[in-house]
Amino acid sequence: MSRHVVATVDEIAPGSCKLATIKGREIGVFNVAGAFYALANRCPHAGGPMCRGTVGPLVRSTVPGEYRLERDGEFLRCPWHGWEFDIKTGQSWCDPSRIALRTYAAKVEPGMEVVKGPHVAETFKVSVEKHYVVVEV
Ligand code: FES
Repeated sequence: MSRHVVATVDEIAPGSCKLATIKGREIGVFNVAGAFYALANRCPHAGGPMCRGTVGPLVRSTVPGEYRLERDGEFLRCPWHGWEFDIKTGQSWCDPSRIALRTYAAKVEPGMEVVKGPHVAETFKVSVEKHYVVVEV
């Protein structure tokens, strides 16, 4: 497993998402009230662009005609057919035991921790020959 810097914390405002391509996979990073969650940008229903969907609350009802909104900003609705998923866990609302979005670990790290690595830049031997700079690749 490798680490990838996706954004600075202030680039992803609460309630929004940033899409990144990591190892060929589109992954959406969501800010839910200051906590970050990463989800695959592929709906398990028919492959819709999940992270382009609408973020909103969970709508609950116990009797017809009455409803209440809970956990605002924690649910993502697919733009194609409206399936809903919990951003924090990836679980679907329609069938939580069988259907889920692929999730990835996301965390905030101080800049100094990111700089420390284990990132190692690729280096090449450089030499100066008379008036030419030569880079060996
Ligand atoms: S592709 Fe997402 S609900 Fe159908």
